[in-house]
Amino acid sequence: MDNLCNSYVESVTRIKELSGATDDDVIFCNISVNDKRALCKVFAKYRITAVIHFAGLKSVSESIKEPMRYYYNNVTATCTLVECMKRYSCHRIVFSSSATVYGNATDAYIKETAAVGPLTPYGRSKLMCEQIIQDACKGSPELCAVILRYFNPVGCHESGLLGENPRNAPNNLMPCVTEAMHSKAPMRLFGTDYNTPDGTAIRDFIHVQDLAEGHLAALRRLEKVHVSFCKVYNMGNGVGSSVKEVITTMEKVTGVKVPHKICPRRDGDAECVVADPTKAFTELNWRPQLDITVMCSSAWNWKTLNPVGYAQVRQTMRVRKYVNRVLSIKKENTSADSPSATTPPPWSPLISIFSKATIEN
Ligand SMILES: NC(=O)c1ccc[n+]([C@@H]2O[C@H](COP(=O)([O-])OP(=O)(O)OC[C@H]3O[C@@H](n4cnc5c(N)ncnc54)[C@H](O)[C@@H]3O)[C@@H](O)[C@H]2O)c1
Repeated sequence: MDNLCNSYVESVTRIKELSGATDDDVIFCNISVNDKRALCKVFAKYRITAVIHFAGLKSVSESIKEPMRYYYNNVTATCTLVECMKRYSCHRIVFSSSATVYGNATDAYIKETAAVGPLTPYGRSKLMCEQIIQDACKGSPELCAVILRYFNPVGCHESGLLGENPRNAPNNLMPCVTEAMHSKAPMRLFGTDYNTPDGTAIRDFIHVQDLAEGHLAALRRLEKVHVSFCKVYNMGNGVGSSVKEVITTMEKVTGVKVPHKICPRRDGDAECVVADPTKAFTELNWRPQLDITVMCSSAWNWKTLNPVGYAQVRQTMRVRKYVNRVLSIKKENTSADSPSATTPPPWSPLISIFSKATIEN
């Protein structure tokens, strides 16, 4: 379910094509989680046993300008969803929360037990959602929840077919970096006077594929519990990289300059936010595998293959040809007698072709 306020249905089409799923395996409903009637209809129609609740607005700066929109869209929708789940006996939820709930944490590595104190309406909306879910679990012990506090998800799917394409101007680092590389218009680097080694803010970046694995690990955890379970886990690498380091790494792995200009700090940006992910490592049996170089190269791979994201039909047709090539290689691989764990993913040869070739527009 998604109301497409910040996404494109093309991404669902590509997920189906990449995974070989049919229309019965992946059902897409264009509805708002705030639309209780529509939501209940979906729960009534399909036997939903678990929910991963990603839906939400996520721009820190926008939330400062339009706080009510954020509270309504993020907080009210979470109440509606949890009510609906209860009505239709769906007892498992994984919620996308954020490290932003920690605000200006002072610990070098932030544990889940650190004090919370979000600095913006967006962060407060996430914390409120967490509290709503925690209270709902107390009120209905059969409801079990995992709350994942994402640190900074970046990177794109290794196929180059799924990536970040916000409808509004991006507000997080990586899409600004790749857009600046592509357009040659300098991106804004906010704040070089932080108390950090190079003066720029430090974040714990995590590759979206590792994060996706984290959600599967959370669902597996929820499958094993039946009552009174509501736990919070940090989803991070436990490694900090400064904004300048990301820019330097990107230039190194791609050989392309990242034009940027220095601007003052932004409201609501914390100095240094790095996870202590030990709890997720031990209790969810999950570990991120991909480092900052893969995060950078996959983000650039997505941008070069999809310079205008999912939106433009002409370009989409070109990518469609690429998808078909990926799928035909995948078919050949899976029809082989014993596909082994060492078989490279079907898109690897294509990635190298595309990284060498210039993509025509
Ligand atoms: N990307 C990050 O840096 C980050 C960090 C921490 C937490 N999160 C959280 O993770 C979740 C996913 O983030 P993302 O980066 O994929 O953002 P995203 O904007 O790409 O995805 C959120 C999706 O929710 C949809 N949506 C928003 N409101 C909706 C509503 N009322 N009903 C139905 N659909 C709705 C949007 O159309 C969008 O497709 C969000 O809840 C976000 O707050 C993201």
